[in-house]
Amino acid sequence: MSCRVGVLVSGRGSNLQSIIDKCQSGEIDAEVAVVLSDNKEAYSLERAKKAGIEAYYIDPEVTKPVLIGKAEDNYIDALNKHKVDLVCLAGFMRIVKEKLISQFKWKMMNIHPALLPSFKGLHAQKQALDYGVRFAGATVHFVTGDVDGGPTILQAVVPVYQDDTEETLSKRILKEEHRIYPEAIDLFSKNRLKIKEGKVFIEGTNGE
Ligand code: GRF
Repeated sequence: MSCRVGVLVSGRGSNLQSIIDKCQSGEIDAEVAVVLSDNKEAYSLERAKKAGIEAYYIDPEVTKPVLIGKAEDNYIDALNKHKVDLVCLAGFMRIVKEKLISQFKWKMMNIHPALLPSFKGLHAQKQALDYGVRFAGATVHFVTGDVDGGPTILQAVVPVYQDDTEETLSKRILKEEHRIYPEAIDLFSKNRLKIKEGKVFIEGTNGE
């Protein structure tokens, strides 16, 4: 049976779209069971509905960018109601806390537009440009209590050019995000991700 994915979003949802497309085309062994947004206006909600996927806004109840209290319970209830096997944060602009993380231990992923552990937090692409790195990229990682710090599942590298702007670099990275997030979900779904001593090993490869 294919893996049921719950996706948490806040905005435009281009990663959500790539996940939906690759699930629906059968390219990856998963299905999006539900999409939950902390933002009523998120275009992600429309994308999901267009694809025939249940999607709704759940009031986060606090202005601080965290998911806590009753709202956290409501998100957990919705994910359980839809019998989700894996939770994917895809541009979800809140820090998730222990209760949700422990419910989905090693069953929750995030994508970050940088080669972690460099450039955690907001505006990662701008941080990379400001630093002057020659290569940037994207990371899919398991979510732990350490924000943007959980074990790496997949990464992709892109070059940084001298005339890059935040926009051009973000676009180059995003293209890779759309490739590696569905790939990470597929690996999870096929039970190929093993955690040993705090690191992720991909079964059936030598990690190349
Ligand atoms: C992506 O760059 C992702 O890495 C970051 O937030 C952005 C979300 O974009 N966490 P989208 O909503 O998937 O288009």
